[in-house]
Amino acid sequence: MRAFRGTKIVLPFLAVLFSTVALFGGKLLPNPLFTPDPTGVLSTYSTQGGIAINNPFFQNLGSNGRTCNTCHISTSAWSLTPADVKAKFQATRGLDPIFHTNDGSNCPSADVSTVDARRHAFSQLLSKALIRVSVQVPDDAEFEIVDIKDPYNCPETTATNPALYRRPLPAANLKFLSTVMWDGRETVFGAVPGKSIDLTASLANQARDATMGHAQGNAPTPEQLSQIVDFERGLYTGQAADHHAGILDTDAAHGGAENLSRQNTFTGINDSLGGDPTGAAFNPNVFTLYGDWASSNSPYRRSVARGENLFNNLPIAITGVNGLNDALNQPVIMGTCTTCHDTPNAGNHSFSVPLAIGTTAYPAVPALDVAGLPVYTIRCKATGAVVQVTDPGRAMISGKCADIGKLKGPVLRGLAARAPYFHNGAAATLGDAVEFYDQRFNLNLTAEQKADLVAFLQTL
Ligand code: HEC
Ligand code: HEC
Repeated sequence: MRAFRGTKIVLPFLAVLFSTVALFGGKLLPNPLFTPDPTGVLSTYSTQGGIAINNPFFQNLGSNGRTCNTCHISTSAWSLTPADVKAKFQATRGLDPIFHTNDGSNCPSADVSTVDARRHAFSQLLSKALIRVSVQVPDDAEFEIVDIKDPYNCPETTATNPALYRRPLPAANLKFLSTVMWDGRETVFGAVPGKSIDLTASLANQARDATMGHAQGNAPTPEQLSQIVDFERGLYTGQAADHHAGILDTDAAHGGAENLSRQNTFTGINDSLGGDPTGAAFNPNVFTLYGDWASSNSPYRRSVARGENLFNNLPIAITGVNGLNDALNQPVIMGTCTTCHDTPNAGNHSFSVPLAIGTTAYPAVPALDVAGLPVYTIRCKATGAVVQVTDPGRAMISGKCADIGKLKGPVLRGLAARAPYFHNGAAATLGDAVEFYDQRFNLNLTAEQKADLVAFLQTL
């Protein structure tokens, strides 16, 4: 096998990419689009022949100057990072449309009259790229919020209208979704309610509500909505090159956005809970991108391959996860990362299965940084049981106590370009995300296993 020299491959690759990008001043960005990120190069591939920057996705359809692209940025895997937000703040002294108090500030009534006031008012957006999502507690909810510890003493954050600080999900790789939004609130179910999803209707709902909410506009026309949905459904994003591992689709590896666009999928594929509509049994080897690197000459590529194998096969005793342990009535489920992340080479759950893994729990697992988030004390009316969370999750939609803290597992691609992680950005790095699992499920991972998992996650 050929000896491998990481940086020597990546640097000329980058030089070519930038010159290609510079050539395109027109309406289509190059396809694939390659952009640098902290650990290498991200790619976006559009199945529509290019990224059409005249699509309404990039147009101001509301009243506050925002577009979809304000919070879903190509270079950040169509999500948003603190670096993006800080750059906007620097460039405009905090006056860019993203710095709008409807959902960008910690509190809607925050003082934004000076640069310093704005730096203060938008601290969660600046530090973790969190957007304040407002959802009302449903009228018939089985629970009530009995106490709020709000670091901002925000008068608009109340027991019926708690503030939920959440990370923008990528507006790409959408073919793989089994539910839309962290709490599934935009999901329109298809032929098998609760199981199959009508992705077109769900994404049209989402784009309409985003325009009316984030952009404070009127509903877009049906034509604009279908243009946005077609555009974002055509987008695939994933890491294309890594500073240490080199180009991620060489030597029998299958990384990058173009390979991802060809990945077959359907609702329920490889469902770990036995719901694959074809009747196929669950295969824990969910990621099959880097297996051939197990015998690479490059020690770093071998680490990536070991990380993939750990992700697929490391035994995890799953306990205390509502949505899983209670649903199956098993206090301990012997599983793997792929029990929850089961969609082949995408890593979300292939059916809509909201899970409470402990990322909203308060006090939080030490690996998570939840400073700056409000803490809600919730009492279930029927049982009197009391829990503390930083986000009630799915329960805000269903009103059910059983759904407190439940969220979807997102598609695990383009991770390197879009830190921080989890719905609330509480894991600053992929290392912190791995540390969370180590602490939460007592994995006793060695330093090498942690490094291997991080090396693998960075190549997705
Ligand atoms: C102010 C920032 C902001 C703007 C502007 C914005 N979004 Fe989002 N987007 C978010 C956040 C935050 C979430 C996750 C919220 C949640 O789940 O509660 C999200 C979620 C999504 C999702 C769900 C992806 C998934 O995995 O479920 C899609 C799709 C999406 N946005 C598309 C759009 C489109 C299309 C527009 C323009 C019409 C838009 N967004 C405008 C912040 C924004
Ligand atoms: C019991 C189910 C479950 C298991 C087991 C599990 N995950 Fe997750 N994972 C989730 C859920 C649910 C989320 C979303 C949680 C949130 O955002 O608060 C998530 C989120 C993530 C994220 C953050 C993604 C993002 O876009 O922010 C990473 C990274 C991740 N998981 C990696 C792993 C690894 C590595 C393992 C194995 C060591 C693993 N997961 C095991 C359910 C699980």
